[in-house]
Amino acid sequence: MKEKFYITTPIYYPSANFHIGHCYTTIIADAIARYKRLTGYDVYYQTGTDEHGEKIEKKAHEAGVTPKEYVDKIIEDAEDLWKSLNISYDYFIRTTDEDHVRRVKKIFKKLYDQGDIYKGTYEGLYCVPCESFWTESQLVDGKCPDCGREIKLVSEEAYFFKLSKYQDRLVKYYEEHPDFILPLSRKNEMLNNFINPGLEDLCVSRTSFTWGIPVDFDPKHVVYVWVDALSNYITSLGYPEDDTLMKKYWPADLHLVGKEIVRFHVIIWPCMLMALGLPLPKQVFGHGWLKIDGGKISKSLGNYKDPREYINAYGVDAVRYYALREVPFGSDGNFSEEALVSRTNSDLANTLGNLVNRTISMEHKYFDGITNNPRIFEEIDNELIDKVNNLKKIVEEKMNGLKVNEAIEEIMEVLRSCNKYIDETTPWTLAKDESKKERLATLLYNLLESIRICAILLSPFIPDTANKILEQLNTKETNYESINEFGKLEEGLKLNEPQILFNRIETK
Ligand code: MSP
Repeated sequence: MKEKFYITTPIYYPSANFHIGHCYTTIIADAIARYKRLTGYDVYYQTGTDEHGEKIEKKAHEAGVTPKEYVDKIIEDAEDLWKSLNISYDYFIRTTDEDHVRRVKKIFKKLYDQGDIYKGTYEGLYCVPCESFWTESQLVDGKCPDCGREIKLVSEEAYFFKLSKYQDRLVKYYEEHPDFILPLSRKNEMLNNFINPGLEDLCVSRTSFTWGIPVDFDPKHVVYVWVDALSNYITSLGYPEDDTLMKKYWPADLHLVGKEIVRFHVIIWPCMLMALGLPLPKQVFGHGWLKIDGGKISKSLGNYKDPREYINAYGVDAVRYYALREVPFGSDGNFSEEALVSRTNSDLANTLGNLVNRTISMEHKYFDGITNNPRIFEEIDNELIDKVNNLKKIVEEKMNGLKVNEAIEEIMEVLRSCNKYIDETTPWTLAKDESKKERLATLLYNLLESIRICAILLSPFIPDTANKILEQLNTKETNYESINEFGKLEEGLKLNEPQILFNRIETK
C-alpha cells in the first residue's frame, strides 16, 4: 500500500481577490504535493477559503450584498486562478460548506460537554482586520502588533477554551518532535513570546457579529473564526462524523502557512487536537512573505496586478518557476515583474529551452529524429552521466528538507552541465566526419537521456513544460522508477518535431 501524505495550505480569507502572495503558498504546496505523488505517495492536498468573520461581514455590507453573495464571487475567481496556475488540489474546502458548519458545531459541543470549553466574560483588545485578541503588553504603540492598525476594547459574554490546561503537554510535544515547527527560529519565537509567559484560556465565541457558525446550544454566539478555520483540516476528512478518511490521512504531514499565522497552528490547533484526543500534525512550516518594493502586498496601496496578467504574458510555468525558485524557502523575498522576466529568460529560455531545442533539432538534422546509442563513450561523458545519476537522490534530500529552491537549482545545474557538454563536444564538427557518426549518436543520446531525467524531476515544479518536453521526446519512460539509472530512454525512438518552450522575453 502507498504511504500517505496530507498537505494543506491555509484557507484564505475571501475578503478580496487573491494576489501573488496567496499564489506563492499555493504553488509551493502544489509543487510539494506533485513531488510526493511522483515519488509514489498517496497524496491529499487541500486548500480552501475561510469565509466567516466580522471583516467579511463588513465588506459585504459595504458592497451592498449578503456575506455569502460576496464570498461566492471571490471563490469563483479563486477557483479560476488555481486552475490557471495548474494547482492540483484534491479538495477545496469552504467554511460555509454545510458539512463543515455541521461538524464544527459538533466539535464545539464535544469540547463543551467534556469541560474544555466553558462560559465566561471576555474583556479585551481586539484587532478586527486580523481577527485577533491581544494583551496590553503585546501592542506596539497601542496598535495591533501584526498590522499596526487600531484595536478596540471589547467586553462580552463568551465561551473560553482551556488552552492553559494543555501548556505542559504542548511544550513536551515540541521537545519530543524537534521538526514540528520549521524553520527553527519560529519555534523559539513561539516559546519565548507566547508559551513561556504562560498560555491564557482562549476566547472562542463572539456575540458582536453574526456572520459565523452559531454555537449549537447558545445561538447568539458564533464560533471564533480561528476555531472554525483550523477545524477545516479535519472536517474535510469527515471528522467527527465519519472516520474513513481520517484513518487514511490524519495526522497531516505538513501544514504550510505564512509566518504570521504559525502561532495559531502551533499553539491553538495542537491544543484543540489534544482536547479532541487526536494526533497532532507532523509539521508546520512557516514560510516568509513575498513583498513588493520591500513592503506589504496591499490592496489599499494598489501595488499589485492580478496574477493572471503575468500568466497571460509569460506563461503559467514562468510564474510557478519564479515563485518556487526565486526566494530561499522560509525567508522573505521580493516580487517584481523585472525579476520574473529575468529569471524566465535566464533559466527557462536560455538554460532549459535552448538545450531541449538544440538537442532535439540536432537529432532530427543528423539522424532523422531517431535515437540510437552505439555506446562510443569518452571520458567527458562520465562526468555528465554521474551528475545526472546523482540528481534524483539530491533532489530527494532537498525536497525532504523542504528546500524547494535548492532542489530546483540542482536540476538547473545539471542542465547547465548539458549545455557545457554540447559546447565542449561540438556535435556539429563531428557531424562533418562520417567516421564520427557513432560517437555523435552516443553523445546526442546522452543529452536526450539527461533531458528526459531532468524533465521528470522538473514535473512537480513546471508540469506543463515537463510534459511538453516528454512529448517531444515521444518516450514512454516517464515514471519515477525510470530515472533510477541512466539509459532508459528507448533506442530507435522517433522524436517529435522540436517546439520552442520559452521565447526570450524582450525587456523594454
Ligand atoms: N484565514 C486565515 C488562515 C486560516 S488557516 C486555518 C488567513 N487568511 S489570509 O487570507 O490572510 O491568508 C494568509 C496566508 O496567505 C499566509 O499565511 C500566506 O500563506 C499567504 N499569503 C498572503 N500574502 C502573502 C505574501 N505577501 N507572501 C507570502 N504569503 C502570503 O490568514
